[in-house]
Parts: sequence; structure tokens; C-alpha cells
Amino acid sequence: MKAVEIKDGIYWVGAIDWAVRDFHGYVTPRGTTYNNYLLMDEEVTLVDTVKYDFSEMTIKNIQSTVDPARIKHVVINHIENDHATSLDKIMELAPDATIYMTEKGKRGIDRFFDTARWKIKLVKTGDTLKTGRFTLQFLETPMLHWPDSMMTYVPEAKVLFSQDAFGQHIASAGRFDDEYSASESLADLEDAVIEYYANILMPFGTLINRKLDEIAKLGLQIEMIAPDHGIIWRQNPERVLQMYRDMASGKAEASVAIIYDTMWHSTEAMTVPMAAGIKDEGLDVTVMKLRATPMSIAIKEFWKSRGALIGSPTLNNILYPTIAELLTHLRGLRPNHRLVGAFGSYGWGGGAVKESYEEFKRMGLETYEPGLQLLYKPSLADENVCYEFGRQFARRVREYHQQF
Ligand code: FEO
Repeated sequence: MKAVEIKDGIYWVGAIDWAVRDFHGYVTPRGTTYNNYLLMDEEVTLVDTVKYDFSEMTIKNIQSTVDPARIKHVVINHIENDHATSLDKIMELAPDATIYMTEKGKRGIDRFFDTARWKIKLVKTGDTLKTGRFTLQFLETPMLHWPDSMMTYVPEAKVLFSQDAFGQHIASAGRFDDEYSASESLADLEDAVIEYYANILMPFGTLINRKLDEIAKLGLQIEMIAPDHGIIWRQNPERVLQMYRDMASGKAEASVAIIYDTMWHSTEAMTVPMAAGIKDEGLDVTVMKLRATPMSIAIKEFWKSRGALIGSPTLNNILYPTIAELLTHLRGLRPNHRLVGAFGSYGWGGGAVKESYEEFKRMGLETYEPGLQLLYKPSLADENVCYEFGRQFARRVREYHQQF
């Protein structure tokens, strides 16, 4: 491996993880990268480290450019394990370096390492570090997405080191957006941005909009966004900024996601006429059986659509466990500006549809009521009821979508 110069004097020295398929529970079919950056200046600076398992890889990349002992400053924008757990390996090689992080970052990193042996400088928004021709400007971004998070901007290079924000779980041979969209597709790249946002940043939309306003007010000229995962935005950083603005404001497609699970195919059988009704009403529809779909993909599809129908059979008078798990995930992610309805088959007394609505209301989501529950297997007449339920729901989704 070798460092990649991303701007004059600024190098990517991270690690490509082609193999990871489970990122603390999220599926990562495209793998990921742990990006960190070396600023070659009178005083050499490393921005972020990598996941512990990849320490050797980043050290080799640094060594391809400079003796790590020359690193004078180490910026830790975010302390989560995938970015900060190789800090001790870096500090073994650069023991005289000073670490720059937020006060909350220090509080967290103290739980991982004996930090008393290191020089640490706490920074906040507005603080700067001059390394020669470069100036590093620190910008705290608490809860984007951890309390410790911050970004670092270098005005002379017009580069924003954005830690997790604007990242994606993509392992690729090329480091840049234009390279990826040439070899794969822009649509695939944007889908990865949405998936990342939906599963990690969804709860923080209000904060994201506020922070984007603050960045705009500071007048930062951004030619390049260098996140800690995935490709670096050099061709069109404006595009990902706009995507974040849109998603933070709850942007969705006028479409419907049907997410269901099933025991003996009765709840599943309800989805077929329902999807036909939605389609005949002119809306696109995606149907996902949850047991056959990774949770993080189901959450992405939920987030992409303005409307969602959640289907659960009743098991022992309550929700089917996979659907209960989905609703628990969603409650933590605090989605908004979505219309939801519930359906399902039951054999004894029912209960899953009622519980689904209770969960929707706890989340503060707009609900389409009443839901639809059927005894055992849908008859031909029931299929017409399901079709009409789909049509009516799609109509309501279209009306609701007009508000945004
Ligand atoms: Fe990529 Fe919040 O860690």
C-alpha cells in the first residue's frame, strides 16, 4: 500500500477493508474504508487514525511518505473504535506529538488508553492550529454523530475533514467520487450515502441542518470533503451537502415501502394485492420480507419512501419478533415526515396490528388508520380488500407528500 496525494501536500493514508460484511450489525456488502489523512507541512499532522486491526496498514502508508516520528500533531475528530483505536500504535511511533480533540473526546479516549503519558490539547469551535502553510480550523459537531465529534477545515486547501459525516461504507480501488461513479455508478454511490445516513444520522436531522447553516455562515469554501469512510468528494462536494440538507429536512420519494414478515405466508399473501393497489394508484412500491432482508437495508428503504406499510402476523397475541426488532430500531432512529400503516394475519385474537400502531405513535409518526388484519389466509374477497387498502393508502401518501 501507498499513500495517495489527494491535494497538494495532503495524503490519504487509510485502510481499505474489502472483507467486512457486518459493521456492528449493519450489512456492508460493498466493504468499507477507514480514512485518515497526513498533512505534509513544516509541522507534520495526522488527521484521525483507523480501526485497530488496520494499524499496520496505516503505518505503512504513513511511512511511504514520512518517518512517523516526524508527526508533530495528531487530530482526533471522532473517538469511535473504527477511527481511534490505533491511536496508541501511532503514539508509540510519534511519542512527542500533541493530540487535538474535544473535551468530550478526551473523556471518552481516557476509557480506552492511559492518556496521562500523552500531550493532549482540548479544542473547540474557532480554535486553530498553524502547521506552516496550512491552518487547521476546528469545528465542534456534537451528536454528529457522537458527543465528541468535530470536523477540521483547512482553508489554504479548501478541504473539510468531516469524520463520519458525508461518508459511506464503500471499499473501492479509487479514492474519489469521480473514480467511483466512472467504474460503478453515481446512483450506487448516492444509495450508499442514503443507507449510511438512514442507519446512523437519521436521528440528528435538526442538528445537521443547524450545523450546515453554521458552515454556510462561516463562509467555508469547500472544494473537497474528506470523510472517514468511503470515497472522497472532489468532483461535486456540493452534491453530498445538498443530499444531507434534503435528508435532514425529511426528503423522501412519493413511494411506498412494504416491510413484512410472515409465519405461514398469510401476511405475505396480503402484500401482493396491496402492492398492486399502490402501483395502480401510480406510486412506486418496494416489498421486503424482513427475515430475508438485512435490517439496515430495510431501514434504508423505509427512509427513502414517504409511506410505509408494516406487516406482522400475530404471535402469542403480540408482534412477530423480527417486526418488533424493526420498530425498536426505528424508534431509536426517530424518523419523521413519514406516513405509516399496519396490516397482518392472525389466527386467535390478533394483537400485532394494534401493537404496531402503539409503536408508531410512540415515534410520533403520521398514521394511516385503521390498519388491516385478516383471520388466517386471505380469501379472494379479502384480496380485493387488500388491493383497496393499498390504493387508499397510496392516495393518502400522495396527499401527505404534497406538504413537503
Ligand atoms: Fe465511523 Fe462513528 O464511526
